Amino acid sequence: GGVAVAAMVLGYLLGSIPFGLILTRAAGLGDIRSIGSGNIGATNVLRTGNRKLAAATLLLDALKATAAAVAGTYIAGPEAGLLAGFAAFLGHLFPAWLGFKGGKGVATYIGVLLGIAPFWVLVFAAVWLTVAFISKYSSLSALVATLVIPVALWIVGEDKIALVMAIMTAVSWWRHETNIRRLLAGTEGKIGQKG
Ligand code: G3P
Repeated sequence: GGVAVAAMVLGYLLGSIPFGLILTRAAGLGDIRSIGSGNIGATNVLRTGNRKLAAATLLLDALKATAAAVAGTYIAGPEAGLLAGFAAFLGHLFPAWLGFKGGKGVATYIGVLLGIAPFWVLVFAAVWLTVAFISKYSSLSALVATLVIPVALWIVGEDKIALVMAIMTAVSWWRHETNIRRLLAGTEGKIGQKG
């Protein structure tokens, strides 16, 4: 009903706050969109060499989605929470303030999981860290982790959450198109590598 729609609007607005852009600008590092991959996310903030700022970007981009999911659940129940988290994810990827050109949704994906099914953050982290340890590619780690999550949720019977996460995976993969091309060409930058 109306309350769920309000939760989604709130989620979109929270999600569309571009913390990577705000923090790097506040730190006097210029426009993050003209550095590295041009993305506004934590992986690209790390390319400025500022680890604390990258960690803060990851945390705040994740927690804005968690806040949306928790607020939605509180005001209208778990399904509204899931939809509000999804709306935050969309807000991060398509922020009105940045001409609808935002990030790739990995931190917000984790944030949604933290808000609605926190155990799965551990699964995400285990997969991400394993692939990152072996490959040193942030994008590949995210691509694999976001593939594992909906499949695993579906296997254990969490069908509704699995469906929404699967949609988020598809949209995030689509936003990783240039990363996928670079991975296939062998030209993707490794974690922390500049340029
Ligand atoms: O979180 C986004 C990451 O998977 C890729 O970021 O900056 O290398 O395109 P980037």
